[in-house]
Amino acid sequence: MGTREREVLARGDMPRHVAVIMDGNGRWAKRRHRPRIFGHREGMKSVRRVIEAAADLEIPYLTLFAFSQENWKRPRAEVEALMTLLKRYIDSERDELVEKGIRVKAIGELDRLEPVAGDALDRLIEATAAGEALTVTLCLSYGGRTEIVEAARRAMKAARAGEMDPEDLDEETFAGLLYTADLPDPDLLIRTSGELRVSNFLLWQIAYTELYVTDILWPDFDRQALVEAIAAYQERERRFGTVHA
Ligand code: FPP
Repeated sequence: MGTREREVLARGDMPRHVAVIMDGNGRWAKRRHRPRIFGHREGMKSVRRVIEAAADLEIPYLTLFAFSQENWKRPRAEVEALMTLLKRYIDSERDELVEKGIRVKAIGELDRLEPVAGDALDRLIEATAAGEALTVTLCLSYGGRTEIVEAARRAMKAARAGEMDPEDLDEETFAGLLYTADLPDPDLLIRTSGELRVSNFLLWQIAYTELYVTDILWPDFDRQALVEAIAAYQERERRFGTVHA
């Protein structure tokens, strides 16, 4: 552990939940005159590094935007390569994740995943279910608006079935109907590669989240970059809409 890491840890104000929009794999590859998938493959290494760093820093929740609903519109070859990469990642990391006590969850329209990736994912979720060190949530075929619509649909069905009084629906019960029902809201949202957009990610959950955008492209994002994001977070004054004396 480096000096900077120790300094950040010593401040004590660590985020409980870090969410990441992993962007820039394509640009990283393009700069090297390589196909986009080369960037995704390199991005997978960043996923491994960041999970390891988060576990070492004792961050309890890490949520990664791995594949958006919009990503289905990419060329078929790229989508297939991403599915293959996901399967390969799962197969190569499973034992280590279990050993390190890392619990993997997945949210999104998981039934749309290619069966090879979906089945491997189900097995990974099951194999890591007892992990207590860090919960990694992979967002796959994920869209924030769809998540909210699905929660609204659940509430309406419960009301129609007489299980819920519409008057009892409040922010807390609604949050309990989202995919993230058992996760705290993110404290810090990191977006790589400089884009100043939320891109339909965790729309409900980021109401009070600190946003941190870095120009670093995802394949170049490493442990040190995560530590710097956390240091920036620690320098913010979180007021949640109130005033501090
Ligand atoms: C954004 O880069 C990244 C993605 C769409 C996919 C993220 C995938 C990985 C990091 C690798 C696999 C992940 C796991 C969990 C195994 P982009 O292609 O949008 O880059 P660009 O904006 O430069 O084109």
